Amino acid sequence: MLKVNNLSLMRGEQQIIQGLSFQLEQQRLFIQGEVGAGKSSLLLALMGFIPIQQGEIYLFGKRCQNEQDFAPFRGRIGLTFQQPDDQLFGPTVLDDVAFGPINQGFSKVQAYKIALEQLERLDITHLKDRPVNQLSGGQKNFTALAGVLAMQPEILLLDEPTNGLDQKNKQKLTALLRQLKLPMLIASHDLGFSAELADEVLSL
Ligand SMILES: Nc1ncnc2c1ncn2[C@@H]1O[C@H](COP(=O)(O)OP(=O)(O)OP(=O)(O)O)[C@@H](O)[C@H]1O
Ligand SMILES: [Mg+2]
Repeated sequence: MLKVNNLSLMRGEQQIIQGLSFQLEQQRLFIQGEVGAGKSSLLLALMGFIPIQQGEIYLFGKRCQNEQDFAPFRGRIGLTFQQPDDQLFGPTVLDDVAFGPINQGFSKVQAYKIALEQLERLDITHLKDRPVNQLSGGQKNFTALAGVLAMQPEILLLDEPTNGLDQKNKQKLTALLRQLKLPMLIASHDLGFSAELADEVLSL
C-alpha cells in the first residue's frame, strides 16, 4: 500500500530523518520519537506536501516523486494534521465534513448524507451546526477525522489523534480505529494509546 525506501528528510538546514525504510500493508503502524524528531514531517512528505532529499516513496505500488505523481493518490489517503485548525474551514461542522464528498463529485444531498453518517459514527452529531472555530480541541480532532473518513480513504495517516482527548474519548477513538480495519500510520506521543492499537512501532 505504502512503501518507503532509504528516505532522508531535511527541514530547513536540519537533517531530521536519514535512511528510513518501512512498509505499510494492513497493519496499524505507530511512529514514535521525541518532540521534533520528524514524525509530522514524515507524514507530510508521504502526501507529497514537503520534498524529500533522498530515497523512494511508493504509494499503491507507484513511485511518487513530484506533484503530478502524488496528486492522484491524495483522495485515497486520509491525513489528519497535528493542528486540526490547518484542516478545518467550516463554516459549520456539517459543512466541513461534507466538503470532501462534494469535492469528490457527490451531489450536495448525497454529500450531506455521508457527512451526517460520519458525525453519527463519531458520536458528534450534536455538533453539526456549530461553527468550527467554536469547537474545543478534542471536538476539532473528531471533526477533522470525520472529514477524512467521509472521503472513504484506503489508508489513514493520523498525526497525534489523541491530542485534546480525555480518557473516555480516547477509548471511543481507540474502538473506532480498531473497527475501521484500514492500514494506518499514526504519529503519537501517547504510549498507552499506542500499546492498545499498534501492530508495529517505528521509532524515529
Ligand atoms: N515549516 C518548517 N520549516 C523548517 N523547519 C521545520 C518546519 N516545521 C518543522 N520544522 C522542524 O523540523 C523538525 C521536525 O518537526 P516535526 O514537526 O516533524 O517533529 P515531530 O516529531 O512531529 O514533533 P512533535 O512531537 O512536537 O509533534 C523540528 O526540528 C522542527 O523545528
Ligand atoms: Mg508532530
